[in-house]
Amino acid sequence: MLGVRSLRGGCRGREAVRIFSRMFQRLAPSGGRQLTVSSHMSSSAHPAPGVAEADVAEQSIESSSNYAHETRAVNSMARRQCPVWSHNEWDPLEEVIVGRVEGAMVPPFSTEVKANTYQYHWDFFEKNGGKAFPAKHLELAHEEVEEFVRILEAEGITVRRPEICDFSKEYVTPDFRSSGLYSAMPRDVLLVLGDEIIECPMAWRSRFFEFRAFRPLVREYFKQGARWTTPPKPLMNDELYEQNYPMDTVEDRHHLAAEGKFITTEYEPCFDAADFIRAGKDIFVQRSQVTNKFGIEWMRRHLGDRYRLHVLSFDDPNPMHIDATFNIIGPGLVLSNPDRPCHQIEHFKKAGWTIIKPPAPAMPDSHPLWMSSKWLSMNVLMLDPKRVVVDSNEVPTIKMFEKLGIECVKVSLRFANSLGGGFHCWTSDIRRRGILETYF
Ligand code: ARG
Repeated sequence: MLGVRSLRGGCRGREAVRIFSRMFQRLAPSGGRQLTVSSHMSSSAHPAPGVAEADVAEQSIESSSNYAHETRAVNSMARRQCPVWSHNEWDPLEEVIVGRVEGAMVPPFSTEVKANTYQYHWDFFEKNGGKAFPAKHLELAHEEVEEFVRILEAEGITVRRPEICDFSKEYVTPDFRSSGLYSAMPRDVLLVLGDEIIECPMAWRSRFFEFRAFRPLVREYFKQGARWTTPPKPLMNDELYEQNYPMDTVEDRHHLAAEGKFITTEYEPCFDAADFIRAGKDIFVQRSQVTNKFGIEWMRRHLGDRYRLHVLSFDDPNPMHIDATFNIIGPGLVLSNPDRPCHQIEHFKKAGWTIIKPPAPAMPDSHPLWMSSKWLSMNVLMLDPKRVVVDSNEVPTIKMFEKLGIECVKVSLRFANSLGGGFHCWTSDIRRRGILETYF
């Protein structure tokens, strides 16, 4: 999956090598070893139709001339003071988008929604698909999210919000009809890489137009100097979904996930932003129910030499969004879900990373989580490497952070969790102070 070959330079782990200082000191990569990391698709996986085998084969990414070129580019971008500027999940946060509860709708119960939800909620989806979530629940979620916003603002962070949209409107394309979902989870749709903001080609029909809620912000950021990318929009016709995907048993799904098969096919590229997680030059992605190999390949070619894209996989029968599975919270520091071991963890250990297994979530079974597992407990938002926003009810997780010397900003997000996300999902960081560095 993830090939690591040694050339020159040292394992950096927590001690990031500063590209800037390198440039200014005009140092050639120092003696010793330098990691060249390649990303390629699993050999058990079917290559996407139209994607040549050679394209998904191992590819060496870094070369020192590219490195110097990129360093200059980064430097000039930093000087421009772009409003969009974020390279990882933990540098000091300056501006963030927080999602909205207003207008949240239960998605129509289509195959891809069924494949991503738990059987004990199917009745709920069958009855409520296309209608609003229960009003009282939304009211409580709204209070929590607005309190979260006030707390971020009190920390001196600029908070931006999507438009209030009517997600109940039905839309018809030549290939399907649907109504919408929400603008609650900016992390799912917007991927920020340095000064670039990517509106991701999501895989759920109910999310086809979700980017519209964020368009006013993206237009504004573009005018202020950000780069704005929209990958090919999927048609989302029936060929994008595995019609015979077995829904009923977790064993079936485990089996299929292990073979690299999911509800989405390889008909056309699709990916959600939340299947990517950033650590400077190294970006990690998982093949999931909503991110296919074709989409990963599209991103790999799009990123070219600017980043190293690594495909990770986990023991997870139902992967969708990596941030409750493998949440990178600091330079060489990762929360790795103990129920979903990472198949490539040895590479992180070799690179000197600290791997933390977070404690079991404290969420009671009685609380409805319509669209996720309880592991939202580890779906935290770093304000800087030493401060984290964590759910005030998740006492074991709070204790874990305190032991790590990370100060906890405690906010309750229980009712907002029911819509499928924690603090990381409910946000998309637009600007973090810091530069592009190498940590892996
Ligand atoms: N699918 C994950 C789970 O059930 C939740 C991930 C939520 N993340 C997000 N960005 N919406 O554990």
